[in-house]
Amino acid sequence: MLRVAVLISGRGSNLQALIDRFVGQPDSPVEIVRVISNRPDVQGLERAKKAGLKTKVIDHKGFPDRAAFDEALDEEIRAAGAQLVVLAGFMRLLTEKFIDDWRDRLINIHPALLPSFRGLDTHRRVLKRGAKLHGATVHFVRHEMDTGPIIAQAALPVLANDTPETLGARVLELEHRLYPLALTLIAEGKVEVDGDRAIVNAPGEGVLIHPKDRD
Ligand code: GRF
Repeated sequence: MLRVAVLISGRGSNLQALIDRFVGQPDSPVEIVRVISNRPDVQGLERAKKAGLKTKVIDHKGFPDRAAFDEALDEEIRAAGAQLVVLAGFMRLLTEKFIDDWRDRLINIHPALLPSFRGLDTHRRVLKRGAKLHGATVHFVRHEMDTGPIIAQAALPVLANDTPETLGARVLELEHRLYPLALTLIAEGKVEVDGDRAIVNAPGEGVLIHPKDRD
């Protein structure tokens, strides 16, 4: 089993999707060994506790700078024996040192089809730009935000009457299917990093098209 630490900052709906797929499942290829939040009292922590997972709050406000915060994060992740770090709505920028230390063992989910629409507020920007397809991406983390080898992607059509809210809700549904899928591919040893790209040694498996919106 691949031992992972999940980092959150809030709602934790992606964490919930990982819990539903991997916790208490006899065939699970993944063990969530720690859920770490940089904010106390968030919903994601409640979800983790309810699932019987070990949690830890490392409040960034208690540290003088990013380097000290990341050091504490790193310590906790290593103490938990995690092999992979999974960012699930973790709203802190990580230092280059942390990213280098966890190179190719640190993944993120972004609510857009990278390399388009990096950054925040993707659903509104997609609508403003008139993009016809939107979706979500799971990728390895590199120094620059929302860059890094793409592991898996999910796509859906943008509908004429979409608002950022309706579009975002459909993307989130897709995220909840995509993240467990991507993590399973990694745990099964099917993902290989070759410079700037990730190769999935399972044809077509890193791709989801929203079935409900096909016609
Ligand atoms: C998701 O949209 C994810 O793509 C982005 O932050 C959001 C987190 O939501 N990185 P949740 O906390 O998993 O519900």
